[in-house]
Amino acid sequence: MFVDVVHSMDIAAVVGAERLREIMGDLTDMCWAAIERLGGTVGSFTGDGIMAVFGAPVALEDHAIRACRAASAIQEEVRPLAAEAQRADGIALRLRVGLNSGEVIAGEIGAGAHGYTAIGEQVGMAQRMESVAPAGGVMLSASTARLVDGAAMLGGAESVRIKGAGEPVSAYRLLGIRERPFVPARAGSDLVGRQWEMSVLGGLLDDAVDGRGAVVGVVGQPGIGKSRLAHEVARMARRSGVDVFTACCESHASRVPFYAVMRLLRTVTGVDGLDGPAARDRLRDRIGDADPEDMLLLDDLLGIGDPEAVVARIDPDARRRRLTALVNVASTTRQTPAVYVIEDAHWIDGVSESMLADFFAVTPQTPALVLVTYRPEYAGALARVRGAETLVLDPLSEMETAALVSELLGDDSSLSELNRTIAARAAGNPFFAEEIVRDLAERGVLRGDRGAYSSTVDAAEVSVPATVQATIAARIDRLEPAAKHTLNAAAVIGVRFDLDLLTASGVEPSFDELVTAGLVDPIGSDYVFHHPLVRTVAYEAQLRSDRVLSHRRVAAAIEAAAPASADENAALIAGHLETAGDLHPAYGWHMRAASWAANRDIGAARLGWERAATIADALRAEDPGCTAMCIAPRTMLCATAHRVHVDVAGDHFDELREMCAAVGDNASLAIAMAGLLMDDAWQDRIQEASRLASEVWALVESIGEPTLTVGLSVPVLYAKLECAEWRDVLDWSQRVIDLAAGSPAMGDFLFGSPLALALATRAWARYWLGRPGWRDDQRHGLAMARSVEPLSYVTVVTYVYPSGIPNGVLRPDATAVREIEDALLIAERSGDAVVLNYARASLGLALVHRDTDAERDRGYALLIEVSDAALQRRHNLCDRPLIEAYVAREQARRGDRDAAIVSMRAVVDHLFGHGARLLHGVAAAGVLVETLIDGGSQDDLSEAAAAITRVADAPTGDELVIRDVWLLRWRALVARAHGDETAYRRYRDRYRTTAAAHGFEGHLSWARALP
Ligand SMILES: Nc1ncnc2c1ncn2[C@@H]1O[C@H](COP(=O)(O)OP(=O)(O)OP(=O)(O)O)[C@@H](O)[C@H]1O
Ligand SMILES: [Mg+2]
Repeated sequence: MFVDVVHSMDIAAVVGAERLREIMGDLTDMCWAAIERLGGTVGSFTGDGIMAVFGAPVALEDHAIRACRAASAIQEEVRPLAAEAQRADGIALRLRVGLNSGEVIAGEIGAGAHGYTAIGEQVGMAQRMESVAPAGGVMLSASTARLVDGAAMLGGAESVRIKGAGEPVSAYRLLGIRERPFVPARAGSDLVGRQWEMSVLGGLLDDAVDGRGAVVGVVGQPGIGKSRLAHEVARMARRSGVDVFTACCESHASRVPFYAVMRLLRTVTGVDGLDGPAARDRLRDRIGDADPEDMLLLDDLLGIGDPEAVVARIDPDARRRRLTALVNVASTTRQTPAVYVIEDAHWIDGVSESMLADFFAVTPQTPALVLVTYRPEYAGALARVRGAETLVLDPLSEMETAALVSELLGDDSSLSELNRTIAARAAGNPFFAEEIVRDLAERGVLRGDRGAYSSTVDAAEVSVPATVQATIAARIDRLEPAAKHTLNAAAVIGVRFDLDLLTASGVEPSFDELVTAGLVDPIGSDYVFHHPLVRTVAYEAQLRSDRVLSHRRVAAAIEAAAPASADENAALIAGHLETAGDLHPAYGWHMRAASWAANRDIGAARLGWERAATIADALRAEDPGCTAMCIAPRTMLCATAHRVHVDVAGDHFDELREMCAAVGDNASLAIAMAGLLMDDAWQDRIQEASRLASEVWALVESIGEPTLTVGLSVPVLYAKLECAEWRDVLDWSQRVIDLAAGSPAMGDFLFGSPLALALATRAWARYWLGRPGWRDDQRHGLAMARSVEPLSYVTVVTYVYPSGIPNGVLRPDATAVREIEDALLIAERSGDAVVLNYARASLGLALVHRDTDAERDRGYALLIEVSDAALQRRHNLCDRPLIEAYVAREQARRGDRDAAIVSMRAVVDHLFGHGARLLHGVAAAGVLVETLIDGGSQDDLSEAAAAITRVADAPTGDELVIRDVWLLRWRALVARAHGDETAYRRYRDRYRTTAAAHGFEGHLSWARALP
């Protein structure tokens, strides 16, 4: 051990020699006392520091732990001295301590009491550890860290450069000492059997260290030894200097979104136990030069966000994409190998499950071994990670069980019969065997100590409980009241619990008996149930009334302990209150949890609303006055269903409709219906979408609440656009523009700027109907959206270009492409999957209208991606036919004309099949017509003529200028293909003048290109 004073020269300069001697004298006395107390020997002074040896000449585990304790004690006890020095001399007195273990040559060198010293390479390393320790901290070399594994809490491996050493070496910060000699979790007896599993895992660990990572599922019944196996792997890893990070899922948190992923990432990043600012600094230290906004998202995920930090509106999809990318980059660039253990995945919360599955998808390219333990009933995403291995743990064999039981009992001759009884009952389940032995010892059937018992009774007279649960229950029953009370209250908190929470929930904790009985293990300042089954039994065996009381108290304690994190803890608090039967407050917390989650994960938010709805229903059964409570969460469920592809039309919606009717709540009904109509549109049921849109519009008009009307115009206008009902689009856009009266953010509950979007939709209607002013509307809408917020801007861009360019209204010039590229960048950073897909579609459509092959190729690739994504994620299916038409056009350009024509026909048939869908129908038909005309055979030309007629004859209420201008173009092309020069000229000239009259820039340039 080396102890040194930070900046001692500076201190000397400030206080002068005499005072320095005094200070150093106090310091030495203090250190000396601490070192001797813990069995160390003070060696030499190095001027301003101290060297000490523990256990020379051989370093033993115990010596290393004692050195750690001494180091901690020194840092603890220097505080009053430092405070005094600060007050009296204005100096900051701080120490660094370094520890290293290994063989040293020790002996009396020099004379006097302080003459004992140790020499050797190891001593140099201790001093170097001291030199890289933070002020006030203790740094351990890898060899010491290995010896104290389990007994001390250490930071992750830090790679440090050391004077005189070539390669950087690993060093570990000492974070604390575990309160009691820590029995590393469940390593009660030697590992029995499992050689094959250990050798497989050993091989995978070696591969991981070499950079070829793996994910392994460890599956088996409760108590069969999954955690034990994970623990053995962790030990093996630590022995070879590999970091291990563990996160446990818990039964009570299986509905708390982000619970598991947050826990894992907190340990990995080492922010546990740090306050907000320190945690954020640590995170930035670890992750280096990531995008600052991404780092804010990560802070938020880890629950260490700065309450002052402002993050722009980011859709949950984008948040998720960015976090996944950030974590994946961090893990793929991580050079040091690591083992990650996810314990008890059968209790994982849904959000964590899918995030971890994303993270683990890159594990094979990283130096990491991921172990996921779970019981056989679990079949979620972590059990199905691509390329993952699965190890199924069977019961131990008879011989193995007998060996385990012998080890637990000892080999006294009185035991052989009993051994057989226990082994038969335990049936290969090691935990059951352990519990039986504990039970028998507590009952006095066994006398002596673990591993050296003798039996007091004849084996034939011994009764053994039938199940492991019964065994545990009997053992709990035997506890003193105070211990039992503690255990019961703790079971309500969870497998792992901290003393503060327990105390705050009104329990005077009494742990000694619990620890001695092996029901609970201490870890640092927390405690953990020795086994999840102990918690389950302790929980379930309680009187309901006691449990209810505990849940209520725990909820209050969680809230009181961290009022600033109430939103993050809302789901947990809600769960406790719900179990306590406090339905009104539980409802409120679920709703609060849902609105917190709505920006983070839509699935998590829906979970909150679902719970709230269930509770509200229960309340309503007693008190019909609770109908409004039933409506609120249901409205949100319907409004967001289309985003997660849940079909809520039918019973769910009808129920809501009835409730709304009962209390006259048309606003909620309209909001819910707007969600339904989006689902219809995305699933390509556009007639239904249009019908619902009319209904919603009538409803909002009848309510007469301008904000609601403006806000809900967004989905309503979308449906009407898709149906090309241009007169409605025109009138309703106008209504929104009038109501909003220049206020860009009015009604922004679904979308940032409904007014900007209404301008874009009015432009759309105007050019289709041949009215003037559309170009100004587009410009105005874009500028307004840009001033409101980035995501609205992206959406307006995607309303302007992907229709404007294919329909020949706008030209795909460099400015347009640049504007779309910018929008795409924003969508990538902040948009949901749908906005992102729209932005990609806009760019793809623009690029396939450009001249160079390179641009068209890129456009083609984008369109394929967009089309696949829409199909896979089942959104925007109504817009997919247009994309498909242009994909086919590019296919034809690449020479696959026949196949291309087949898909074009299919698209056109689809769009003109049941009623004409002219929004995309005209441009898509144009793709087919022009490809056929290019072919030029008689058949081609007659098929083209038929397609033209189909478009021309499609019934519409109004004259559609866009259709007219296309018809002129196609007729000119057909006439030319037939060699009818006069007709050609006539159509061409009319085409030119019409395009010019309406200012359709795209058509103008195409028309100019005609000979
Ligand atoms: N092969 C083994 N040799 C010796 N002891 C074992 C073995 N397997 C398990 N044990 C012991 O049995 C007990 C239960 O094992 P463990 O906690 O690993 O079960 P588990 O499968 O994780 O159960 P759960 O699903 O409830 O978490 C532990 O105390 C553990 O040390
Ligand atoms: Mg386990």
